[in-house]
Amino acid sequence: MRATEDKGYDGVAKLLHWTIVILVVAQFAIAWSMPDIHRGIEPVGLIAWHLSVGMAILAVMLVRAGWRLTHPAPTPPISLSSAMQAVSRATHSALYALLVALPLLGWANASARGWRVTLFGVIPLPPLSAAGSPLGMTLGDVHQTVAIVLLVAIGLHVLGAVYHLVIVKDRTVQRML
Ligand code: HEM
Ligand code: HEM
Repeated sequence: MRATEDKGYDGVAKLLHWTIVILVVAQFAIAWSMPDIHRGIEPVGLIAWHLSVGMAILAVMLVRAGWRLTHPAPTPPISLSSAMQAVSRATHSALYALLVALPLLGWANASARGWRVTLFGVIPLPPLSAAGSPLGMTLGDVHQTVAIVLLVAIGLHVLGAVYHLVIVKDRTVQRML
């Protein structure tokens, strides 16, 4: 066994990974419980929570991407073929891209609905589209579709983790614990 095989992600990368997992699970639970969003509805209650948690995800993902760009991932487990390494890298890149794009799409749609978007409920953010903008309204549908694509990517990622844990029985999952 190579010494590098057991070298996992650093503490900050682990903290950011599991913070995002908690926020994303909460965000889907909120999205599926909040009232149907239609013209004229006010962004209160669970809808306000959806906007706040979504913007927190964007903020944490930007910090995380910055951390990752300056702190490379540890060497991949030697049990992974180069094809599987490529699949794993592509899934990870897709997760980063989706978790930045999805909040931006939601933000643009919220702006089109005339809603003010803030960071952590205190820092006011500029609108990403004009109130009533037809493009901004359409981006709401794109947001919903991209959320499903994110779910599929997360499903693949978690299947990969379970495969390593139960079938390959290597230390891949331990790298993020
Ligand atoms: C990773 C973060 C996010 C996830 C996973 C997510 C997920 C979702 C999902 C699944 C829906 C559909 C809910 C349904 O079935 O009715 C939805 C709708 C919506 N989300 Fe998000 N969302 C995120 C971030 C945001 C952000 C940051 C905002 C705004 C600041 C936002 C604003 C909205 C709006 C306005 C809708 C309604 C869209 C429409 O029906 O036209 N979301 N979101
Ligand atoms: C919302 C759910 C999740 C998201 C969005 C997510 C996202 C990510 C991303 C973007 C990476 C790449 C890290 C990097 O190289 O910078 C990663 C790595 C990893 N994740 Fe997740 N993850 C989720 C859930 C999980 C769960 C539930 C598990 C365990 C069962 C898990 C285990 C891992 C492991 C072990 C790695 C490192 C893989 C390696 O060694 O290359 N993740 N995750």
